[in-house]
Amino acid sequence: METFQSLLAKKFSQALAKAGLPNAGELTPATDSRFGDYQTNAALVLGKQRGENPRDLAEKILAQLDVGDLCEPPVVAGAGFINFTLRADAVERKAGEVLRDERLGVAQAKSTRRIVIDFGSPNVAKPMHVGHIRSTVLGDALARIAQFLGHEVIRDNHIGDWGTQFGMVIYGWKNLLDRQALQRNPLAEIVRIYKETNQRAATDPQVREACRQELVKLQAGDKENTDIWNECVAFSMQDFDHVYKLLDVHYDIQCGESFYNDRLPGVVERLLKSGTAEISEGAVCVFFRDIPELADKPCIIRKRDGGFNYATTDLATVDYRINDLRADAIWYVVGAPQILHFRQIFEIARREGYTADLRHITFGSILGEDRKLMKTRSGENVPLRDLLDEACRRARNIIEEKNPDLGEDDRIDIAEKIGIGAVKYFDLSQYRMTDYVFSWEKMLSLQGNTAPYLQNAYVRIRSIFRKAGESASKIDRLALDDPAEINLAKRLCQFAEIVPQVLNNFRPNILANYLFELANSFHTFYEACPVLKSEEPARSSRLALCDLSGRVLERGLDLLGIKVPEKM
Ligand code: ARG
Repeated sequence: METFQSLLAKKFSQALAKAGLPNAGELTPATDSRFGDYQTNAALVLGKQRGENPRDLAEKILAQLDVGDLCEPPVVAGAGFINFTLRADAVERKAGEVLRDERLGVAQAKSTRRIVIDFGSPNVAKPMHVGHIRSTVLGDALARIAQFLGHEVIRDNHIGDWGTQFGMVIYGWKNLLDRQALQRNPLAEIVRIYKETNQRAATDPQVREACRQELVKLQAGDKENTDIWNECVAFSMQDFDHVYKLLDVHYDIQCGESFYNDRLPGVVERLLKSGTAEISEGAVCVFFRDIPELADKPCIIRKRDGGFNYATTDLATVDYRINDLRADAIWYVVGAPQILHFRQIFEIARREGYTADLRHITFGSILGEDRKLMKTRSGENVPLRDLLDEACRRARNIIEEKNPDLGEDDRIDIAEKIGIGAVKYFDLSQYRMTDYVFSWEKMLSLQGNTAPYLQNAYVRIRSIFRKAGESASKIDRLALDDPAEINLAKRLCQFAEIVPQVLNNFRPNILANYLFELANSFHTFYEACPVLKSEEPARSSRLALCDLSGRVLERGLDLLGIKVPEKM
């Protein structure tokens, strides 16, 4: 199904051709609804290019433009903008089509790709903390949206399950482990022994050396150390899985860094052979002498002591994803501190001849009320598990107050949907590059641009249907009359324009903000137009609008990874 925007854009470029003009400018939703629904700056752009009067050009184009079935006669405004206002009957027809469509008007992408999305990717032997929210929630939303648009998505959790920290973990395991504590809370105990070893190693060279020895043994495949390592990975995964279950996040593969171990020598060999890498002071490095900002930042792929590192693993990972998984694109949802790392990796991959579309999708930080990186009172990272539990607890308090008659099962279920939804939405509704201050009050508020507000709008719609004694609207044709109805129907038609836009610059906040506006339009409609008490045909048509509003809210939130309750 075609959107108004693409229909208008198509007709407009036909008119340009007829007027003997090249394609120019953009046809976009109007910035101010007083001027109509869509606008284009084409005449302004052409005027500048050709040194002609934009208003005259606009008239010339309009003389060739036939959009009478969709809009009122287009209007030239200001210096040469062309404004379009949709006709009510066109909105009625389009909204009817959307109503009958499973996909709510959203078309499949024209060319679909196989996309590996690398997101979440926590490190073993450390609990997931608040810093993992953004990558996990953002990556999951992008995966859902890409999949809905028809792309083949492979969700990959690139777990940090290998590295120098294991020398310390193994040393701690052998020398400091409290078995009972391990049984009570495995990950906490692993973190404790790791930290304590770290402290000792900082002051005691003997401990440092012992840790190094443990690491060498692990890397050489020593049985005892491998067993300890396996156990630590398994304990960490249990903790991660608990969080993923709460967040309703699922992975297709979780290779982890260790998966690439035996491929690392091959990577270095290949790069040396092709001349991309060279030996420098005993290490194997790739230099970027032709890129000014990287000129003094070589990428080391084999250290002087023969060890491989994070970059080597990522190069093996690129190869695996492209050659084995056959990915057309790889999206890395990883924080901004790794910008340099991925610049280097992508550049090396390009030199090796890989053509897949590699993207580093970065994001800002989550801050505490003091506007510094969010920490616990004792200055530690806030464990994600605790934070999510608290979100559910706080949501429960809110619903107990709002609706004291709910049974215990409902309370648990609804508190989880609202609490987790609030945390996710608060993140996704912001532009990903901006830092934000974490605020329970704001994210759990029933007013404003929050998940609970949107969930509440959905619940309200469901209660209309409960009152009507029907589960969904039965009609598939609309009769729109009141301006609030027409406005709501226009919004509902925009869903199909918004969803694909999210992927242009990886901005789920565009979808979030659309849903917020939709909920506002719904409330305005609901206040202006009685539904169950109105006469036919308005009654059925309005019920259908309610039904469609509920479906778009539910689907839109689902694309953000947020669930809706039936009541709250
Ligand atoms: N485990 C890494 C970290 O916590 C993130 C991994 C991101 N993915 C990758 N392919 N490097 O910083």
